[in-house]
Amino acid sequence: MKYLSLIVLVLSLVSCQLKPSDSVGSVDAPKVQFSLSAASLGIFRDSAQKLVIEVSEDNEGEIGGLLETSSFPLEEDGQYEVTGVSIGPKWFSISLRDSQESILASGSVRYVVGLGLQTLPEVVLTPTEPITLPLNLSLAVELNGFPSGPSADEPALREESLAIFQQYSCIACHNSSFPQGALDMESYPFLSSFRTEFSDIVNEVVKRINDDVRPMPPSGPRLNEDELSIVASWQEALFGAPEILLVDLVLNGQELRLEEVDGAFRLPSDQTIDVLAGDSLVLGIRVSTQAGVLLADRSLTETVGLDGTVSAALAIDYEEPVIVIPITIGE
Ligand code: HEC
Repeated sequence: MKYLSLIVLVLSLVSCQLKPSDSVGSVDAPKVQFSLSAASLGIFRDSAQKLVIEVSEDNEGEIGGLLETSSFPLEEDGQYEVTGVSIGPKWFSISLRDSQESILASGSVRYVVGLGLQTLPEVVLTPTEPITLPLNLSLAVELNGFPSGPSADEPALREESLAIFQQYSCIACHNSSFPQGALDMESYPFLSSFRTEFSDIVNEVVKRINDDVRPMPPSGPRLNEDELSIVASWQEALFGAPEILLVDLVLNGQELRLEEVDGAFRLPSDQTIDVLAGDSLVLGIRVSTQAGVLLADRSLTETVGLDGTVSAALAIDYEEPVIVIPITIGE
C-alpha cells in the first residue's frame, strides 16, 4: 500500500511534468493578443459592455467548428489576450455586445497561430444594423525618390517651352480639335486621351524632338541646341520634388480638394460626407503639383471604422524622365 502510493506519487509527478503547458513553458505557449482602442468603438462607446472572442477551426479557409469562447469586460487600454489556443490555422471572430448579449458589431479574421505571444491583425468590425456616420478621412501622401531641387523656375521654363512648340507648329498639328497622333499639346498639361501620366507625355515629347528616325516636327527645321536644352530643363524642373501637393478625392461621383492639416490630407472643414460604419469605400485619389503636373491617379479601397475614421496612405515613386542630349541636329 505504501509502495503503491509512492508509485502513484512518482507517476503523477512525471505526468505533471509532461503536461504540455508546463513542458512548453509559459514563454512559448500560444498567447494571442487583440487590441481594440476605446476611441475606435465610435458610436458603441456607451452601449458596448463586453468583447467576445470566439476561436473556431479553419475549414479550408472557411470558419469551422467552435473551439472556445472568451469573454472580456471592455478594457480602457483595449488589450485582450486569449490563451490556451492550439497552434495552426484558426478563425477568430470578434464581437462587441451590449448588456443583453446582443451583438452590436462583429468581424472575423483567419490567423495561423504559432508559439509565443502574437498579435492578431486588425479586424474590421461591421455593425449588425447599418449606421451612417460623417467620414473622418486622413490620407498620408509619401513621395519616394523625388529629386530635391528648385522647381520654382518651372513656370518660366514652361512658358519658354510652349513658345518653342508654337514656333515649330507643334500646336498646329497637336491641338484640341485635331490632335494628331492623339496628342493634344494645346491644353496644359497636355490632357491626352491616351495617356494618364503627364510625365509620360513630356518624356515622349522630349524623345520625339530628339528622334532622328521619326523626328518632330515631321518636316522642316528642327529645334536648335538652345531650344532643346530649354525643353530638357523644363522637363527636369517639372519633375523636381514638388513642395506643394494638391490632392483631390473622388468619392461616389463627388469630387473635392482635400486640405493638408499636420501633414495629412483631410476633408475640408466645411464638407461632410456620410458613410456607413464598417463599409468599404473606393477612394479615387489624384495627386498633382501646384503647377498642375499629375503625379498619381489611383483608387484605394479602405474600410470605414466604427467612428467613421478612414486612415489611408499613398506612396508615389518618382519616375525618371528620359532626357536625351542629341549629338547632331538634323535640318
Ligand atoms: C505637320 C504636323 C505635325 C507637326 C508640325 C508636329 N507633329 Fe508631332 N505628330 C504628328 C503626327 C501625324 C503624329 C503621329 C505619327 C507619329 O507618331 O509619327 C505625331 C506624333 C507625335 C508624338 C507622338 C505621340 C505618341 O503617339 O506618343 C509626339 C510626342 C509629337 N508628335 C510631338 C510633336 C512636337 C513636340 C512637335 C513640335 C516640335 C510636333 N510633334 C510637331 C504631326 C505633327
